[in-house]
Amino acid sequence: MHGPGHNQRYAASESWLARAERSIPLGSQTFSKSRTQLPIGASPLFAERGEGPVLIDIDGNRYIDYVCSLGAITLGYNDPDVNAAVVAQAQKAVIMSLAGREETLLAEKIIDLIPCAEGVRFGKNGSDATAGCVRIARAHTRRDLVAVCGYHGWQDWYIGSTARHLGVPDSTREMTKKFTYNDIDSVTALFRAHPGEIAALILEPVAFEEPRDDFLHKLKDVAHANGALLIFDEVVTGFRFPGGSAQAMTGVTPDLAAIGKGMANGFPISAVVGRAELMKLMEEVFFSFTMGGELVSIAAAMATLDKGREKKVYDQLASVGQVLLVGVRDLIARHGLAETLSIVGQPSWQLIVMKDHASASSFDLKTLFIQECMRRGVFAIGIHFLSYAHTLDHVRQTLAAYDEVFAILADALKANDLRRRLDCEPLVPLFKVR
Ligand SMILES: Cc1ncc(COP(=O)(O)O)c(C=O)c1O
Repeated sequence: MHGPGHNQRYAASESWLARAERSIPLGSQTFSKSRTQLPIGASPLFAERGEGPVLIDIDGNRYIDYVCSLGAITLGYNDPDVNAAVVAQAQKAVIMSLAGREETLLAEKIIDLIPCAEGVRFGKNGSDATAGCVRIARAHTRRDLVAVCGYHGWQDWYIGSTARHLGVPDSTREMTKKFTYNDIDSVTALFRAHPGEIAALILEPVAFEEPRDDFLHKLKDVAHANGALLIFDEVVTGFRFPGGSAQAMTGVTPDLAAIGKGMANGFPISAVVGRAELMKLMEEVFFSFTMGGELVSIAAAMATLDKGREKKVYDQLASVGQVLLVGVRDLIARHGLAETLSIVGQPSWQLIVMKDHASASSFDLKTLFIQECMRRGVFAIGIHFLSYAHTLDHVRQTLAAYDEVFAILADALKANDLRRRLDCEPLVPLFKVR
């Protein structure tokens, strides 16, 4: 059927959305999982469970999942080793009135695995970790400004610098400046404009662009020459990229780093890591919350990191991801879509970029793409997060689906009738930070 807002395939999702929105603003806890990102009528909106690389929605439809809970799933859903560790810990205690030894064991493991880590403090979300890094940098330098590049979470200090800054005071917004990836001049200009005022540069060290011209080394030099710290936001890249981090992959070691997302295969834990002298400051900088030493997530992180090392998980994400990346690139060319679509990023974290076309906007295109992928059992919204559970066979099935989807997109662009092919209202641009 055509027309927005009802599709038998997603009937349960649609009725639960209506119910959820009566008690939950947007019907979801996470902006990127809400109806703002998923077209009602052409996409599932609620999931029931996950099995390895597969997501099962509440209507019983199955998908090979390339969102992987926004990158939080690195091993696959319902990983037996993580589950066993979690059950064993839960039977002892979830959290206790004193610190557990497991906190130290995990900190030691992270120090082993992340180049800049000489000390570790745990948070729950990536935003805790980025905010912790920024507070340490401000305390260390006694400066107030920070310069950002990428997405760094929901808290005032960062989100105030974006279009979604409702509720953030102007005085806070003024503390955050922006620089451009691979543009060292945009950084030197900031230091010139605010001499002696910038505490830190914080960036996603490698996202959808490769660092060019030794950008990351230069950034570190420029930061230090100006008395500022370099912070890597490795919330996505930590325990996902080859070597286990972007700093391992690129050979550039920052002063501090934030990790989160995939470090516990979906259990809520993040960490501030960094040089010993800076981490020592955390004895004075307030970074403390009731759930900070929650041991089930710590057990999940131990199991995830052990498996990461034993099974060479990050190498597999890269090798399987590379087959997908190259395969998609070939299909884009084969369907004559290269002017409108491209695929960028690293093998374990890729993005299909969609541009406006004479006959359709990039958002119309994205909506049709999502509709047709979902219909074929591929949970894809343009981003590809790989997990260890994704095999070459899943990639082959995905490429076969994309072959059909790209044919439809090419046809729609040629026939200038994309909107007519939609079972839903097209998505609208809301929030772009990368
Ligand atoms: C690079 C990066 N930093 C920080 C965050 C914030 O993490 P969280 O949403 O867990 O607070 C995210 C989340 O998407 C992220 O991608």
